[in-house]
Amino acid sequence: MAQFSESADVPDMGRRQFMNLLTFGTVTGVALGALYPVVNYFIPPASGGGGGGTVAKNELGNDVSVGQFLESHNVGDRTLVQGLKGDPTYIVVESKEAIADYGINAICTHLGCVVPWNVAENKFKCPCHGSQYDATGKVVRGPAPKSLALAHAAVNDDKIVLTPWTETDFRTGEAAWWA
Ligand code: FES
Repeated sequence: MAQFSESADVPDMGRRQFMNLLTFGTVTGVALGALYPVVNYFIPPASGGGGGGTVAKNELGNDVSVGQFLESHNVGDRTLVQGLKGDPTYIVVESKEAIADYGINAICTHLGCVVPWNVAENKFKCPCHGSQYDATGKVVRGPAPKSLALAHAAVNDDKIVLTPWTETDFRTGEAAWWA
């Protein structure tokens, strides 16, 4: 069996990585929802939080390059990264040159499933109990009681830096419930 591995695996790498990326962005919404408490448990606190913000990481745990991110996504895309405290967080592509200055925490405010982005309907729809959020993460249908949490997103040296959002929630004009 050893004789296969070298020759068969190498040409497969590109495809496998591509599939991983695809899977991360789409199907894993539900699986991540189930796994989230487990995954979160294993993420060392040192990698998140902190006063200086958290560099967004991709599904492989590598820092996200904004240049590559903008090249490989379309305007309007909402793409999951690991954000503050390792929370799955959507980065919004605002234009060909820029991401939005806020990230949307993907954890449903009902019971904590990861909420997938539904491109066709232009909203986030929770697969667990049907809650819906608009394109900015504002809740538009229960049972979720609150909008998705926000984080500030800024670009520093080609990296996306997320910092806690403690100000008024711009979607509701109310205090940030998560702060
Ligand atoms: S966890 Fe999202 S609707 Fe229940």
